[in-house]
Amino acid sequence: MKIRCFSCFSILAVTFVLLNACKEKASIAYQESDIQIIPKVGSLQLNSGVFQFNENTVFVASNQQQKIAAQLLIDKFKNASGWNLPIVSTIPKNNYVAFKTDVGLDAEAYALKVNENGITISASDSSGFLYAVQSLRQLLPVEIESTTVVKDIDWQIPNVDIVDGPRFPWRGLMLDLSRHFFNKAYIKETIDALSLHKLNILHLHLVDDQGWRIEIKKYPKLTEVGAWRVDQEHLPWNSRTENNPKEKGTYGGYLTQEDLKDIVAYAALKGVEVVPEIEMPAHVSSAIAAYPELSCHEQPIAVPSGALWPITDIYCAGKESTFQFLEDILLEVMEIFPSRYIHIGGDEATKTNWEKCVHCKKRIAQEGLKNVEELQSYFIKRIEKFINSKGKKLIGWDEILEGGLAPEATVMSWRGVKGGVEAAKYGNDAIMSPVGYCYFDYYQGPPEYEPKAGGSVITVSKVYDFEPIVDELSTEEAKHILGGQANVWAEHIPTEDHSQYMIFPRLTALSETLWSPKELRDWNDFSGRLKTMMQRFELLDINYAKSAYIITSKVEANAEDKSVELTLHNEFLDSDIRYAFGDAELNEQSAKFVTPIKLKRTTVVKAAMFKENKPTGMVFKDTITFHKAVSSKVDYITKYHNRYQGSGDFNLVNTLRGTKNFRDGRWQAWLNEDAEVIIDLGEEKDIKRVTIGSMENQKNAIFYPSKIQVFVSKNGKEFVEVKSFNRAFKPNKETELKEFNLEFEPIKARVVKVKLSLSHHIRERNEGWIFVDEILIH
Ligand code: ACM
Ligand code: ZN
Repeated sequence: MKIRCFSCFSILAVTFVLLNACKEKASIAYQESDIQIIPKVGSLQLNSGVFQFNENTVFVASNQQQKIAAQLLIDKFKNASGWNLPIVSTIPKNNYVAFKTDVGLDAEAYALKVNENGITISASDSSGFLYAVQSLRQLLPVEIESTTVVKDIDWQIPNVDIVDGPRFPWRGLMLDLSRHFFNKAYIKETIDALSLHKLNILHLHLVDDQGWRIEIKKYPKLTEVGAWRVDQEHLPWNSRTENNPKEKGTYGGYLTQEDLKDIVAYAALKGVEVVPEIEMPAHVSSAIAAYPELSCHEQPIAVPSGALWPITDIYCAGKESTFQFLEDILLEVMEIFPSRYIHIGGDEATKTNWEKCVHCKKRIAQEGLKNVEELQSYFIKRIEKFINSKGKKLIGWDEILEGGLAPEATVMSWRGVKGGVEAAKYGNDAIMSPVGYCYFDYYQGPPEYEPKAGGSVITVSKVYDFEPIVDELSTEEAKHILGGQANVWAEHIPTEDHSQYMIFPRLTALSETLWSPKELRDWNDFSGRLKTMMQRFELLDINYAKSAYIITSKVEANAEDKSVELTLHNEFLDSDIRYAFGDAELNEQSAKFVTPIKLKRTTVVKAAMFKENKPTGMVFKDTITFHKAVSSKVDYITKYHNRYQGSGDFNLVNTLRGTKNFRDGRWQAWLNEDAEVIIDLGEEKDIKRVTIGSMENQKNAIFYPSKIQVFVSKNGKEFVEVKSFNRAFKPNKETELKEFNLEFEPIKARVVKVKLSLSHHIRERNEGWIFVDEILIH
């Protein structure tokens, strides 16, 4: 049976043994490191003693806001402990959680005081009360997240004084419902998770080329036609083919206005504002498929099933009917969403149709506009005027800066932070959502272990490094940065389970960067608390990624003794990583990784993270392949491009091989020029083969070299060509890795020069890359 102090003191016939056990529990000495709340609280004082919840604990709440917050924890206790804790109106002598309104506290802020007698929560608004309860929840054992009754848990928390509030008012997450549709239940689950993390904005991307997801009563075809596409889900997103406009779509879905109102009401109870995004003038093929008259050319088009680039089928900016259509839609949208903001997209419009269209040309002339960029600016400013006239504010992606920013617009900066900085300098508000930190559709671990994703790798620690206030901003300008947001574009995310996988635990890191004081940010401390949050995710049945546990390697070249030094790590700095070489078994006897491992010959390395002396998670395996140039000095006759530097000047001789992800940090690349390097082996060696590790990904303008030449020299001055190789260009739809082997009569040489060239016809197009990961000399 579980022993609780309260019952000990209330039952007279208690045995000596029970009393002692009770005292022992009550005297647990908590330490600050036991406070695992994420995001980290602004100020914490830990006092001695504890508060013990039991079946007689009461909640004291006097208004609706307080009762809603109380109910959240009451429901948790009902599930996890089986208790039915009441809400009462007067504070008893002890054993209570009391809510008090304190108008002196800032919006969303709260104070939480815990002592043996009771808990007092103060806030000035509903969010403050909710966030206090979220902190209280995280002070409780993780089992509070259980959906079934858990026995033998001491529902005890340490005595603390917490004063806490957000660093930024905008702490958001965007769900893309267009590329793949997610249902209402999933959206509500996501809202619960936002609230747990004290995040307060859910941005719904309801419109895009591949699906229109919001019922509009005046234009029923938007969902009858625009919400459905031909099912090509069996194909990768980028390989899907163009659809015939006559073919009926069967894959998709949409939210009715009732669904959306229900979501909005649910979110309000959790302190979350739902911001709708209605894209314009581009990313609207789904609307044009429904109503072709919205485009310049007025020809029927189909809802695309996959990638679409460039986006030329956009709303005509010349016709008045386009604006009538959009105003009608926005009026219905504003009826559903009480949000202060309407997001109008504004990104990635290719305006070639505007250049040809009689209506658009007429508009440009009439309005005295210089070009189509100014026509986009006219478009957005006109929509902004309409939105402002209804008492709402406009947000757009940073492209709305082009051609002139609308006067009151808030910029959501995604192509880095530049757009946000520019907006703040104009005196406009901005939200930072830079692609390099906040795009949760990107990989979160080594791509070879992850499901297909967009872009490069954004690990949970990288998200933790996200800082919305950059140096270019003065203190005054920084006030215009409302906060930050993560975006989950769903091209490669077909299911809700997969969506959760991409969101968690990166959202946990984001919550701390946006809520907690900057000076408290500390990865080491956070990553410890993250493990506790992951235990909560387990009980909440949140499908979080364990990518942070995956072991990756880093290799440093040691030029002195021509060795390489291998570092094994994962995202948790305190991980117990053990390794073995070759066929040796990886077990509890294996060496623990402490300092870089020096390697001088080809070696197979296996490693795993150990927990309680047992390997856990994925086993890392890599072969470090030595050759005669490893850790030799490399001189670059043509320098690699600064976007793809690999690990620097030793990259081509560090044994580390690249993956098919050209942004994996293991590739060096040259743009529209020959790659020409000289490798000094340090002493004369017998050589007979040079191997070039290369990649082709023609979709991204990466090509195999059309010519490879190898020269050797004894002194580094006079070179003789020992082998060359010509390769005719071949169209290639795949991403492919290839080793080019150039063999020749064995020769003694100290210096080897390699020259890789692009074919002339690619050079003429001015956008051809050569990618190389390693030059192996044998
Ligand atoms: C965007 O990623 N196109 C906003
Ligand atoms: Zn037009």
